[in-house]
Amino acid sequence: MVKYKNVNLIDHPMVQHKLTILRDINTGVKEFRELVEELSLLMGYEVTRNLPLENIEVETPICKTTSKIISGKKLGLIPILRAGLGMVDGLLKLVPTAKVGHVGLYRDPVTLNPVEYYCKFPPNIADREIIILDPMLATGGSAVAAIDFLKEKGAKNIKLMCLLAAPEGVKAVNTKHPDVEIFLAAIDEKLNEHGYIVPGLGDAGDRLYGTK
Ligand code: PRP
Ligand code: URA
Repeated sequence: MVKYKNVNLIDHPMVQHKLTILRDINTGVKEFRELVEELSLLMGYEVTRNLPLENIEVETPICKTTSKIISGKKLGLIPILRAGLGMVDGLLKLVPTAKVGHVGLYRDPVTLNPVEYYCKFPPNIADREIIILDPMLATGGSAVAAIDFLKEKGAKNIKLMCLLAAPEGVKAVNTKHPDVEIFLAAIDEKLNEHGYIVPGLGDAGDRLYGTK
């Protein structure tokens, strides 16, 4: 069994069940989109597990009491365009007040290197807990580039949430950004010669948006 650093594998039965349907070549665009959103919400539960809490006073219909709320600045969700967009609504169901920034990256089909085409982050990024969203962590090039951009802008507290990863992608993030915790539903076997995760689920962007 290979050991990875900073990896949280979310093995909850609901997550594993939905992931299997997502992988299926016969799952159509509508269901694929719904499943990505549902998986993001379910996994978001674990990703937000350690958010700091503070006590506030609240008045119930019975009496005044002290109860907990999440403290500090709100979350920053950063989907990597375009497939990461499919994960935003699931997380926003969980944390409706989170701010959303965007990193536009696509993989050059020949070199597999990430190419940036858009970047816009929420203010006060240094004070926020950042969750990067992308269904696929393949070579890791896109995730590493997104983390680089965020750190250049001052982000310090970054988590990466993907549905599926290849061992190569996990190793790349571990090596370049050992401070970043990774949340995954599964680590698959390998990458193929085109940089696709095997067995994977195919091209996440194309399956989400019905392109190709
Ligand atoms: C996919 C995926 C990741 C990237 C992963 O995006 O959503 O962003 O590939 O591959 P990597 O780990 O090797 O960088 P893609 O480039 O296909 O763009 P899209 O989301 O616009 O479809
Ligand atoms: N991007 C995808 O969408 N799928 C893969 O398997 C690898 C990268």
